[in-house]
Amino acid sequence: MYLVLLGPPGAGKGTQADLLSRDHDIPHISTGDMLRSAVSDKTELGEEAREHMERGDLVPDEVVIGVTRQRLAADDAAGGFVLDGFPRTVEQAESLGDIMEQDMGRSLDMVINLDVPETELIRRMTGRRICPTCGRNYHLVFNAPRSLGECDECGSDLIQREDDKESVVRQRLEVYQQNSKPLIDYYEDVGLLINVDGRGSVEQVHEKIEDILG
Ligand code: AP5
Repeated sequence: MYLVLLGPPGAGKGTQADLLSRDHDIPHISTGDMLRSAVSDKTELGEEAREHMERGDLVPDEVVIGVTRQRLAADDAAGGFVLDGFPRTVEQAESLGDIMEQDMGRSLDMVINLDVPETELIRRMTGRRICPTCGRNYHLVFNAPRSLGECDECGSDLIQREDDKESVVRQRLEVYQQNSKPLIDYYEDVGLLINVDGRGSVEQVHEKIEDILG
């Protein structure tokens, strides 16, 4: 299964991608996670991405397309994947189509667009906490760890993402508004887009997606 999850920041793409990855045994490929890890390792890519991410802006297309092409070339992506956070622009969508056709001899099966109102997005992002060690994602209210501030998996202290501070969240939403319509139109035109109401609990949204996947 070759899937893309679209949706605004905080819509639940990463959360749902984790569940799809587990249930369908396909890798969850997140450009945000790859870029954050490059920033934390202070690699050349991380240095290039850091300022854009801190401001809540998009990292330039050519950088993100290069990283994604490399990741999709790995063996585990050959049998399917769920992409989260890529593509974000029409240029990225066109490149993804080319990469899949030329390098993998495949095409996407479906693009799922999670729709969530803005007030809920802000609540989800400002309450998010992540584990810096294993990457697990929590929410202070909706998906709280068993012990306050500590990762259930590895016991590390949970942190807030730099770009989840409210001023950056607003900029990320603005950037999403500017880019989303052309991207959604692009996938609608090629007949791949399925809109899913992303409100409700994590389990309810997961069930809706599984029903669509059949
Ligand atoms: P990225 O990491 O991709 O961030 P994003 O798209 O802004 O998405 P988020 O990770 O904030 O949210 P999500 O939809 O995954 O929601 P989540 O499941 O975590 O990108 C970060 C930055 O990297 C970008 O700003 C950009 O600079 C750069 N970048 C990345 N990809 C790029 C690209 N392709 N091109 C250019 N630049 C790129 O859920 C959010 C919270 O809500 C969590 O706390 C979760 O527990 C909770 N939650 C989830 N579902 C529910 C639910 N149903 N009910 C209640 N709470 C829920």
